[in-house]
Amino acid sequence: MKADVGVVGLAVMGQNLALNIARNGYAVAVYNRTAERTKKFIEERVKAEKIIPSYDIEHFVASIERPRKIILMVKAGTPVDEMIEELLPHLEKGDLLVDAGNSHYADTNRRLEKLSHHGILYLGMGVSGGEYGALHGPSIMPGGSLEAYRMLQDVLTKIAAKTEDGPCCTYVGNSSAGHFVKMVHNGIEYAIMQSIAEIYDIMRKILRMSTSEIGQVFEEWNKGELSSFLVEITYKIMEYMDEETGKPLVELILDTAEQKGTGKWTAQAALDLGVPTPSLNVAVFARTISHFKEHRRELSRVFGEKSRVTSDKSLIKDLEKSLLLTMFLSFSQGLWLIHEASKAYNYNIDLPEVLRIWKGGCIIRARLLNYLGAILKENPENINLLASNNAMDFVKEKLSSALKVSSIARESGLPTPVLNSSIDYLFSLTEENLPANLIQAQRDFFGAHTFERVDKEGTFHVEWQKLE
Ligand SMILES: NC(=O)c1ccc[n+]([C@@H]2O[C@H](COP(=O)([O-])OP(=O)(O)OC[C@H]3O[C@@H](n4cnc5c(N)ncnc54)[C@H](OP(=O)(O)O)[C@@H]3O)[C@@H](O)[C@H]2O)c1
Repeated sequence: MKADVGVVGLAVMGQNLALNIARNGYAVAVYNRTAERTKKFIEERVKAEKIIPSYDIEHFVASIERPRKIILMVKAGTPVDEMIEELLPHLEKGDLLVDAGNSHYADTNRRLEKLSHHGILYLGMGVSGGEYGALHGPSIMPGGSLEAYRMLQDVLTKIAAKTEDGPCCTYVGNSSAGHFVKMVHNGIEYAIMQSIAEIYDIMRKILRMSTSEIGQVFEEWNKGELSSFLVEITYKIMEYMDEETGKPLVELILDTAEQKGTGKWTAQAALDLGVPTPSLNVAVFARTISHFKEHRRELSRVFGEKSRVTSDKSLIKDLEKSLLLTMFLSFSQGLWLIHEASKAYNYNIDLPEVLRIWKGGCIIRARLLNYLGAILKENPENINLLASNNAMDFVKEKLSSALKVSSIARESGLPTPVLNSSIDYLFSLTEENLPANLIQAQRDFFGAHTFERVDKEGTFHVEWQKLE
């Protein structure tokens, strides 16, 4: 028996993806650098699925039907290059390699170029949904040539999550479009996670709610407009008790957040392309600041006690609206970035399609996506979603709550960077006259950088002070 598809890399994602493909009726060849992991996988997780293990690359490649379709699910970075180098001598023209990890889009472009010289087709494919999604149906974001996508389309659409709008998989676009979209997906994910954490902080420190009470509020919210994967896991986290101490586990977890790079890359890409994504960017810095635990401990003593404003439970309604606003504006910024990247890199990305495939399986799936999709449908040029009376009404309806929450947090000395940046993003974009005229004057003053005028055409420079 030859395999229909090969999977390289059997950590959490690879194992579950391989099982998902096999459970959809395909024979899957699997290989992992460390043989022990493959053995354990076969012994502990594979039952009736058609899975063919290999312990050397040659045997692995030989066990796959031609033209071969091989999905790499290894650690992003040099491991992907190393695996490609190992596989390459055994591949033939017309074979397909798919990098399903969280690779940087520039790496994907480089690998695409290199493999095209060998006649090997290549897809850079984002996969979202964590281990559960990988097994039961992730959101899949493949990019590269359409020809390459067609080779694996049936498999991918079968294993993807399904919503009423179809499978959560689409051909995202040319070259590294898939990895770019997955990267921005993660950037939005950082912002929404931070935003939820800010609300949680206000609930515990200002409303003095217990973890269990907080969980109940998130559970309620998950039944309404805020319904989403991240809100859902938040209430489940609040309910989880530590067996050893009998306390909610979340209270025992050290407050330093890790990151693997996709949030930072999103911010870097936004800065490179000149797209404003402040809420996404500050979410990355929030994780960075969290890392300075010792320093924060020391400085909190130097700063002294912060007096917390008191508020009653009526604030919960404002917190809900506040979170809806930051979610909306995080998507607004992410979509804008994807749109600009699509133009700059000729990705040819269909934004409504991206929203559609984020509706199921993925970490940022949210009921709100239906609404965002409808706004874009109404006007596909509305790339940051704000150029619509409908969207502006939505945002304005949440704004007074967001301002109230932000103000209470400010007065209490609580950091709410995503909330504040989101408000400022909105205020900046809706302000016709920004003080950038002064910035231009300052630039021209010290560096003769020139400026434009509001009253006549042209580029100007004045001698702001006499040079001796
Ligand atoms: N975990 C998630 O929720 C998630 C979600 C979406 C996407 N992703 C992305 O999916 C990919 C896989 O993620 P993961 O969490 O399953 O695993 P991971 O911890 O990122 O990577 C571990 C896998 O990579 C292999 N590997 C590491 N260095 C290697 C090298 N130099 N050569 C060959 N293989 C090497 C490991 O093999 P050994 O067993 O030999 O060490 C193992 O199979 C990553 O790019 C990740 O960012 C992860």
